[in-house]
Amino acid sequence: MPLLLQMIRPSFANRKITRCATALSAGLGLALLAGCKWTNLGGNQSTMLTAGPVAKAQWDLFMVTVYVTTGIFIVVGSVLAYAQIKFRAKSAADEPAAPPAQGHGNPLIEIGLIAASVALLVIIAIPTLRDIWYTHDVPEDEKGNAIDVVATGYQWWFKFEYPSELVKLPAGGEAPLVTGNELVVPAGFPIRVQLRTVDVIHSFWVPKLAGKVDMMPNRPNFLWFKADKPGYYYGQCAEYCGESHAIMRFRVIALSAAEYAKWLENQKQPARTVTPGAPAAEDAAPRVQFASMKMAPGEALAASSEFDANPLAAWTAMQKPEAGEDPKLVATGRQLFQDKTCYSCHTVRGHEGIGITGPDLTRVGARSTIAAGVLENTHERMHAWIKDPNHFKPGNKMFNGGYTEVSTGKALFALNDQEIDALVAYLHSLK
Ligand code: CUA
Repeated sequence: MPLLLQMIRPSFANRKITRCATALSAGLGLALLAGCKWTNLGGNQSTMLTAGPVAKAQWDLFMVTVYVTTGIFIVVGSVLAYAQIKFRAKSAADEPAAPPAQGHGNPLIEIGLIAASVALLVIIAIPTLRDIWYTHDVPEDEKGNAIDVVATGYQWWFKFEYPSELVKLPAGGEAPLVTGNELVVPAGFPIRVQLRTVDVIHSFWVPKLAGKVDMMPNRPNFLWFKADKPGYYYGQCAEYCGESHAIMRFRVIALSAAEYAKWLENQKQPARTVTPGAPAAEDAAPRVQFASMKMAPGEALAASSEFDANPLAAWTAMQKPEAGEDPKLVATGRQLFQDKTCYSCHTVRGHEGIGITGPDLTRVGARSTIAAGVLENTHERMHAWIKDPNHFKPGNKMFNGGYTEVSTGKALFALNDQEIDALVAYLHSLK
């Protein structure tokens, strides 16, 4: 073994080069780990800029661990550095020198290190246990205000149900209100989310509001969160669930209690039908970029000066009917929705849509994004999505099984641009 060490050990001069290379690669590695962005730790999905008490508790706990481990790093690193500098070979003449006298245990140091380790673990354990109880369920004094939501993961989108908000079904009876990919909640109220999946394991994560919790097949899971203020929050599936996992996103929109009540009231109505002379809002809505996915390789996104300035205001403006709706085109789109079999996979409550394979589209025109948070819900992008869904979301069921036969890949129907325009007009009228 000593002979082997002698062979691989660089000469005294070479060791300087080795040291420089090590320092350089450590620096490069750190820069890579940090994503080269020391200056920008914010962003839409930052866990550092928390917006609710659950995320805040989790962030504070993380920081306790960071402080403790940083302390350990400094102490151990200092001792190591001291030993390395003090006992280093200072010249080539030191090379053959015998190693310094070796110690064989010091009870005082050993007991001291064990006691320090225990103390540090206790410091971490206290807030950890406190947060386990805190995140486990809505605190007792807030339970009366809690709102229940069932979130279900599908490859690759999210369904949200409000079990205590019942809507009348056109065929009679009642069912919980259902939406897709945009979870609307009142700010300041605890939201209890039951987590389910219909296929594989997904994970529900809104970084600014609460840490991720998995959606497991055959195992009910749960989390709760509260948004401090009204806002537009970005969510993401955080468990690999197939080819379009990375683009399985969603949004949480927190409204004031009054706005939420208004939103619920509108959601409970049957789908809107455009009639000639229907009131339409002026088209002067605030403009933000809700989703960043490009439509084609190399496409430049029109980054407006208002980029993400106030997504909540822009989302609110989208709830109103669009200016210049064409009742004839909308009616054609509604007919195509049946003729092209869209209705067998999507529900449009009050209209013909009855399917449950895809997201509920009763109010799709009022959503800020489509295709599970990856594309902005503009006419242009909705058109592109309907034209070639597989381009934006590889493997999705609208294309595989809807547009084409799964086993053979044979096209089942075709849509021309005029037909897609009519479908877009219809879908955008659903507010
Ligand atoms: Cu769903 Cu990853």
